[in-house]
Amino acid sequence: MRGLLITGTDTGVGKTVIAAALVRVLRARGINVGIMKPFAAAKGIFSRKYRSKDTAILARAAHATDTDREMNPFFYSVPAAPYVASAVTKQTKVSMSTVLDAFHNLAIKHDIVIVEGIGGLMVPLTQTETFADFVKILNVPTIVVARCSLGTLNHILLTVNASKAYGLDVMGLVMNGFPQRETAVDKQLLTAVKKLAGVEVLCVIPKVAEVTNIHFKIEEIVVDKILPRLHIGSFVSEMLKK
Ligand SMILES: Nc1ncnc2c1ncn2[C@@H]1O[C@H](COP(=O)(O)OP(=O)(O)OP(=O)(O)O)[C@@H](O)[C@H]1O
Ligand SMILES: [Mg+2]
Repeated sequence: MRGLLITGTDTGVGKTVIAAALVRVLRARGINVGIMKPFAAAKGIFSRKYRSKDTAILARAAHATDTDREMNPFFYSVPAAPYVASAVTKQTKVSMSTVLDAFHNLAIKHDIVIVEGIGGLMVPLTQTETFADFVKILNVPTIVVARCSLGTLNHILLTVNASKAYGLDVMGLVMNGFPQRETAVDKQLLTAVKKLAGVEVLCVIPKVAEVTNIHFKIEEIVVDKILPRLHIGSFVSEMLKK
């Protein structure tokens, strides 16, 4: 397992928060973690070092020394899907081969690369390619982050259906932002997701005051789902270093 992709049911659902937590937990276990935000779009650049705020958050979590362009080959200076943003800004259109080369270069340098998506699976990258096409070619396990609020069942089922249509390897769902004071509807939502989604609910993350404090929940995913699949890769890379 050379990479793990974090996608979401929508923009703003917590992909960066969950991806950064996974990075921190893996690092704490001595794993050399790389990060990637292949496509980013925002109103202006975040800093001189990192054009995208998401790249900055993930790179800091990973203590990454890779360059901004290695981790984020495509940055658009308007917040829109790459297909739309590239047309508006006249910036370079997405090239699948460029982004795949960037991933493979990072994968050589790290035990695992945590890749954060953009928006959701059906985000158009070009006129003919969606983000799901990229995930399919990347061929890495995928975690889907979803909200715990009104509208999420629809988004979850659409995302799971799309992932099946594209033949993606979905590891499961992370239900993010579960209310601290749960109602009967909140509880029933989780039951409904477990019954209807057809993919495992990996964990439920509460709505928290400080997002860097969600490790205890993420730990379970790392121990149960990621480390077992990473074992051989880590062992081999350790052997190669010697
Ligand atoms: N469990 C949580 N508790 C409280 N706040 C959260 C939680 N998860 C995410 N947030 C906040 O919600 C906002 C959106 O989260 P985040 O940036 O991770 O979403 P995203 O899916 O990566 O968005 P984008 O599509 O822009 O990449 C952020 O301000 C983040 O701090
Ligand atoms: Mg993000």
